[in-house]
Amino acid sequence: MNNSSFKLDMILKFLNELLKIFIEIFNGFLRRDKKLYFSLWTSFIIGIFVLFECDIYLFKKFQVLSLYPSGIFFKIYAHFLVWLPILLFGIAVSFQKKRFHKSLIEVFDLVGLKNSLGSYPRFLLLENLLEKTMILKVTNGGFPLSDWEGKRNRLEANMHIFIDEIKQIQEKGIIEIIFSYEPMPRKMSIDQMDRFNRYNFLLGRDRAREYLYDFSKTPHLLIAGETGGGKSAFMRQLITTIKYNQPESEFYLVDLKGGVEFSIFEKFPKTQVIMEPNGVIKCLNSINGNLKERANALKARKLTKIEDFFDSIEYKKMSNEERLSHILGRRIFVVIDECAEIFLIGKKNSSSTHEIREAISSITRLGRFAGIHVILGTQRPDRQAIDPQVKSNLPATVCFRIHDHGGSLAVLGNGKATKLPNIPGRAILQLGSEEIEIQTPLLDFKEAIKALDEKFPAKASLNLDQKKYEEEKAIKSDIII
Ligand SMILES: Nc1ncnc2c1ncn2[C@@H]1O[C@H](COP(=O)(O)OP(=O)(O)OP(=O)(O)O)[C@@H](O)[C@H]1O
Ligand SMILES: [Mg+2]
Repeated sequence: MNNSSFKLDMILKFLNELLKIFIEIFNGFLRRDKKLYFSLWTSFIIGIFVLFECDIYLFKKFQVLSLYPSGIFFKIYAHFLVWLPILLFGIAVSFQKKRFHKSLIEVFDLVGLKNSLGSYPRFLLLENLLEKTMILKVTNGGFPLSDWEGKRNRLEANMHIFIDEIKQIQEKGIIEIIFSYEPMPRKMSIDQMDRFNRYNFLLGRDRAREYLYDFSKTPHLLIAGETGGGKSAFMRQLITTIKYNQPESEFYLVDLKGGVEFSIFEKFPKTQVIMEPNGVIKCLNSINGNLKERANALKARKLTKIEDFFDSIEYKKMSNEERLSHILGRRIFVVIDECAEIFLIGKKNSSSTHEIREAISSITRLGRFAGIHVILGTQRPDRQAIDPQVKSNLPATVCFRIHDHGGSLAVLGNGKATKLPNIPGRAILQLGSEEIEIQTPLLDFKEAIKALDEKFPAKASLNLDQKKYEEEKAIKSDIII
């Protein structure tokens, strides 16, 4: 290479590096990077500093006043100082990425992502997705998604990261790895019970944020997962949060396994615990009757959904008692812990099959606008446990760990529930096409009872129930063992 082409090459490389720095600054703006905002503030303060000639004081102090620039040099000096923090931001991000890229090749080598031609997947992009979550984009290097998934643990160990998801953009041959440097929380609690309103409750959190559930947007919910995952605990905190913040809410809690999970709620107003198959059929039929009445009441007011009624002056003027007695005064929740038992009633008694499926199906189809919601829990996610027609009407799923692929496939349509760590309360939240790994909150029996005792002080001592629960739980555990 002769001297002039060497120089040209150097200039091109320098310009390329400079361009990368500006691209990083631009990307920083796009993703509203906090560090970039800090740099901007620093630039602003430096600008003020120079504008009011405070820098002269420093030159004087170090006895180099003669070096203080003037004329055109002052302009260059001032611009340099003002732009420096922003440039440093761009340089730091670009340097970080280069280092990351280099280490990536070593990692790909270690985990066996080197193809037969001896080349590696190519680094494309690394940027923040959320506060604590990053996205890495690389070319697939000729490896299918299943190979990447298979190397997930080794990638985590070698890169010292926690991978949330590996996705593929098939048509572009790109692999997206969503990860964080921090592990997911292993436990979380509900810090303030009274911070939820309008029938919202806490679904859980990932590394970066909490997720709330809003029944006006997502009317029905499926809770699935194998034993010990946290389904009942999840239902307990859901019921407690809603009953605490919306005391007028109406609950039908179905547990045909004869468990004691729901018995603590029995004493509160508008809360009914059903443990008998006949009771379920009666209850579902009566709710369907209520649904029709509600539909008529809305129609008479020329309203299409219950939220419109909740926004009306008529509703806002109502006392709690009036809300308890008015046909449209509250949302109604049907919570079924282990719905396989419900559909099995049908198996045992074929005349009931049709009735039960029709009733649940009708509530899940029409309940949204009338403010009637279904929450189904299940261990067994097959066709017998959940009627397919009912399942298709449940827009959201919280799926705790399921160890067999078929089970996970039946609930989520993919194998993600099998990949969840064995941590109680860890689940996949599936809302439409979005899937998020969350740690659900734990509200134990004592906390649930304490919160509701506070809200409904007139009710009889629930401490007795707690004792009864503990005794029965012990018996239940003995039987299982
Ligand atoms: N969100 C959570 N965080 C931490 N621990 C939890 C959480 N949820 C449940 N657990 C723990 O796991 C145990 C089992 O939870 P739970 O009874 O809710 O499971 P389940 O899915 O309903 O099981 P089964 O199908 O046998 O009824 C609880 O006693 C509790 O100690
Ligand atoms: Mg349970």
